[in-house]
Amino acid sequence: MCGIFGYVNFLVDKNRGEIVDTLIEGLQRLEYRGYDSAGFAVDGKLFNDGDNGEIMSNIIVKCPGKVKVLRQKVADDKIDRSDVFDNHAGIAHTRWATHGQPKEQNCHPHRSDAAKGEFIVVHNGIITNFAALREYLLSKGHQFESETDTECIAKLFKHFYDLNLKAGVSPDFNELTKQVLHELEGSYGLLVKSFHYPGEVCGTRKGSPLLVGVKTDRKLKVDFVDVEFENNASAAVAQQQIGQTLSSLNGPNGATAQDLGFIPVAPGEQNLRTSQSRAFLSEDDLPTPVEFFLSSDPASVVQHTKKVLFLEDDDIAHIYDGELHIHRASTKSAGESTVRPIQTLEMELNEIMKGPFKHFMQKEIFEQPDSTFNTMRGRIDFENNTVTLGGLKAWLPTIRRCRRIIMIACGTSYHSCLATRSIFEELTEIPVSVELASDFLDRRSPVFRDDTCVFVSQSGETADSILALQYCLERGALTVGIVNSVGSSMSRQTHCGVHINAGPEIGVASTKAYTSQYIALVMFALSLSNDSISRAGRHEEIIQGLQKIPDQIKQVLKLEDKIKKLCNDDLNDQKSLLLLGRGYQFATALEGALKIKEISYMHSEGVLAGELKHGVLALVDDKLPIIAFATRDSLFPKTMSAIEQVTARDGRPIVVCNEGDAIISNDKVHTTLEVPQTVDCLQGLLNVIPVQLISYWLAVNRGIDVDFPRNLAKSVTVE
Ligand code: UD1
Ligand code: M6R
Repeated sequence: MCGIFGYVNFLVDKNRGEIVDTLIEGLQRLEYRGYDSAGFAVDGKLFNDGDNGEIMSNIIVKCPGKVKVLRQKVADDKIDRSDVFDNHAGIAHTRWATHGQPKEQNCHPHRSDAAKGEFIVVHNGIITNFAALREYLLSKGHQFESETDTECIAKLFKHFYDLNLKAGVSPDFNELTKQVLHELEGSYGLLVKSFHYPGEVCGTRKGSPLLVGVKTDRKLKVDFVDVEFENNASAAVAQQQIGQTLSSLNGPNGATAQDLGFIPVAPGEQNLRTSQSRAFLSEDDLPTPVEFFLSSDPASVVQHTKKVLFLEDDDIAHIYDGELHIHRASTKSAGESTVRPIQTLEMELNEIMKGPFKHFMQKEIFEQPDSTFNTMRGRIDFENNTVTLGGLKAWLPTIRRCRRIIMIACGTSYHSCLATRSIFEELTEIPVSVELASDFLDRRSPVFRDDTCVFVSQSGETADSILALQYCLERGALTVGIVNSVGSSMSRQTHCGVHINAGPEIGVASTKAYTSQYIALVMFALSLSNDSISRAGRHEEIIQGLQKIPDQIKQVLKLEDKIKKLCNDDLNDQKSLLLLGRGYQFATALEGALKIKEISYMHSEGVLAGELKHGVLALVDDKLPIIAFATRDSLFPKTMSAIEQVTARDGRPIVVCNEGDAIISNDKVHTTLEVPQTVDCLQGLLNVIPVQLISYWLAVNRGIDVDFPRNLAKSVTVE
């Protein structure tokens, strides 16, 4: 969904053209998340403003459409590339419309005022009290240029800045940010720049990810940044006083700061930059060249640096004079961490490039032999048939004692829970329920302290799942994450978990994350039942089965040519498609149907084969294309009977079956797609690959932009 990118250079000379290129490249790396407009803000030229003396003008370029349209606009507008800056802060954004349509006035960045653009903001998330803020700001004479919630933030910055000045205070940028945050409700990841603070940027987050990448030749003294808690009494007074101004929104008279007896603080008093931070001090105290990259997604930072710091909710990252400071608006509470570690991204640049493939989705489908292997790497001992999940080890005894396991997720991640629920129940003998996050919240489902709630997510940022996670945390349940994105909100907010290590997934259609989530969940179930001697045989069978999966996926991928032909010859012009499966394969049918819908826009439905005769059979005739999953497991005879119900009505299903399984006479099926056989609970890992390929080729044949299907975003960060 929306993406944020910011770039600050200090003592590293960059001309405007290079800065714009860096911002646009950053946005390009965020494209996969889905968006409908893009924009950025950089410094213009110095001019004499009279009131403020010599100040810097802004250049804001923004437009609906893709980043390449933005790039073209930069060329068309003939943005001067030549001016060189040794210190500069630029901010950029890709927007996914929530408040207001994708048109130029609604694109980010937004500014505090049209006259000078004193404060410029990019924002991810939703400000839920924006209507009240807008009304208040309108009443104070601010004029709005857009329909967005974000514009309120820019205007609040100016509003508070002016109030501070009137009170004789020259606020530090981070103090001003605290005053603004005090008024915001909802979720945000945001960056702000201002000519009042040249070369500086403030970034903050609440419920929306933000990280800071650091590139410097300087050896950092320590690999963390100290958190600077609120300890400036006068700043607190100022904040409280100004806060009261806006609290009067709901008050009787709309009183102003002066009305409320605002206490002026001596000029400069709050501007003292007392640093508690150790990481960014150079050994000789001399300023050192450094570049900072702020982003909502590590994928846009990794080409510049692998050293990153993930912000926590309510952190304010203030970058100035080549230093990164982390502030909090509150005083330190018990148990709160006093540092933010600087971590090393394990992601490689080539992982987020398409390589020889036409689309990321195709690349990711073909990566599955490697990604599934990586999920198991270092965690399964195939010689001794044991599984060790480092992130769960210490928690297993507690989980074993829980009353029930609730798996909570959305979309494809939900299907991976469905696919593994049965093996979980078999191996752990703990009742397992599987929940769609939005429905779970809508029902306000009861959750208890002795529940274990497992959150499965590729991105770790899906709003519905995060809200469900917070709901479970509030009720004291143990929370476990099965997450791909290291450093994501879900990975950090859960008590413990497993990173599936599938590598970045860029295509909107989730493919490799599904197979890796599936394996991670099977490994989780195996580790929970490790104690049990009676299950040793079943463990061994599954673990040995897992070892063969990457090679077997390679085998299945060889079906691509046959599938391409099938799509070309028989499926392209169809309007609808049914997928039939039962037992372990019901999840495969649902997942296949979701893939086909989202990428090829063809209506498709996953049907539990046992339910066929209860209604869906009415749709069956000699025309409706049907894919049936009839691989060997204990339910195979029942699946066959469903297939016979179809063929008896002249249906000619495409059957996914095991290699060499001459189960159905050729004239009764349209075609078979043969996949290797594996253990029943793992068969879904192989059966899903042909339907991933079918959805891909249907979409390509229909000329759809596979990686960016209409109306969808990679990471769904709104409810
Ligand atoms: C960790 C390292 C890995 C290293 C390995 C060697 C990380 C991210 N992983 O992998 O690079 O090779 O040790 O021993 O540093 N967690 C959650 N919620 C989640 C996912 C994970 O709380 O949704 C927690 C885990 O409980 C754990 C930590 O994050 O404390 C790392 O999890 P994971 O990467 O799965 O652990 P390892 O496989 O041990
Ligand atoms: O990042 P998450 O796994 O939490 O995302 C959940 C769904 O939005 C996601 O799986 C979606 O259904 C995919 N586009 C399906 O391909």
